[in-house]
Amino acid sequence: MFWIEIYSRVAWSAKRIARRLVFELAARRLPLALRTPAGRRFAELGSLVEGCLLDRITRDPEVGRGIASQLLNVIYNCDRITYNEPGTADAYALLHFLDRYHRFQLIFDLLSRRKLMPLKHRVVDILDVGTGPGPSMFAASDFYSERFGYVDVSQAYQESRRPRFKIDYVERSTEFRDWLHYFTEYANSRAPTGRYWCVPYHHGTFSDFSAIEFDQRTASWDQDEDGDSVRTIYIRRNRFDLIVFSNFLTKRHQVMRFKKELRACARFLRRDGVLLVVGATDASRKYREVYDAISGIILERGYGSRKFTAWCKRVNLEPYVLSYRSDDPYGEPVKQHLRAVYSVLHEKYHEVVPEKAARILGASIAPGYNRTKAWQMLAFRKIVRTRPQVKRSAGGRQRSSPGRPVLPPGRNDWRH
Ligand SMILES: C[S@@+](CC[C@H](N)C(=O)[O-])C[C@H]1O[C@@H](n2cnc3c(N)ncnc32)[C@H](O)[C@@H]1O
Repeated sequence: MFWIEIYSRVAWSAKRIARRLVFELAARRLPLALRTPAGRRFAELGSLVEGCLLDRITRDPEVGRGIASQLLNVIYNCDRITYNEPGTADAYALLHFLDRYHRFQLIFDLLSRRKLMPLKHRVVDILDVGTGPGPSMFAASDFYSERFGYVDVSQAYQESRRPRFKIDYVERSTEFRDWLHYFTEYANSRAPTGRYWCVPYHHGTFSDFSAIEFDQRTASWDQDEDGDSVRTIYIRRNRFDLIVFSNFLTKRHQVMRFKKELRACARFLRRDGVLLVVGATDASRKYREVYDAISGIILERGYGSRKFTAWCKRVNLEPYVLSYRSDDPYGEPVKQHLRAVYSVLHEKYHEVVPEKAARILGASIAPGYNRTKAWQMLAFRKIVRTRPQVKRSAGGRQRSSPGRPVLPPGRNDWRH
């Protein structure tokens, strides 16, 4: 038993050293712009997502066929499908994961320069709504690990090494929840640098966004003195410093349907917390309507209580549209990654790749292909003020109202 333990530890360390060596050799060939902490992490995660997808495609033909057959659905019907159709989660990860991860590297960098990334002495809580394969969670993990220090994978389960941030997500699709569970373990067990991604390995606290409950009745089982099991019911209060919606709110009627839930997000955002919405640019009327509806809902009312007045303020983000090009130092590897996985998919399962998907993907991995990828951000900050002391009058009690607070003039001003 002892020798088996020693053997497996040595084998694990040897594999880790070998992975690191291969990564460092590859990193020497990276373009200069990627030889930064962000660029290296992007390259590391890119190689892992590519390895994971290739592994799944080649190991199980059913998975490969499922992915190949869902490519067109993910390209064209991404806001109509349920993502419970087999193959959709992998197909989505192939088409969007690395691109979205990089977008969030740029977004968090900009927010940080504008002092909008919550940084506190105690734990920062982050919630990603409609996380899909979780690109923004991986980027958030890297952002906070860069600031607070990375946890080594060998120490990830030590209580004393708990990071100063916690990420949770809302996701309805079981395909995506399973994919995330699988990929988080894959990435963390094979990361060449051994730097841990603190992305929920469990299945996330919230499933459907509709009727999301931030105060959850939870049961825990303990043993009493006699060894009998006793059930304790308690309320788990989920509060957040950063809530992210990325490509989740895409239609006006959907935003209106989630009015109650959006307000709950604003209500349970902590003091100075940020609610961030990311999506397509408002060059189209469709997205202008989406962003106007979100702003209307979030800014319309206050979120105060008996002790506090609270409201959300739209943050003047400049620039509020970000972009990168598919021929820049980050765009090229995104294209290469798609090319590497798609060519294997096409070679093995071309009979199930829809013709239209083959045409689109063939063009987008061609050497001369170039496109600017642009997206828009909308951010709201939670402002909380203590209510002035309530005076008691001789005639009776005078109480402050928990309803709509008196809001400072101009708080609804939100021009870009
Ligand atoms: C277009 S994907 C966006 C994924 C990811 N945030 C990104 O930016 O790439 C939308 C995600 O929202 C999830 N979703 C849709 N409706 C939902 C709901 N009512 N509750 C929770 N998740 C939902 C879908 O399953 C999908 O993962």
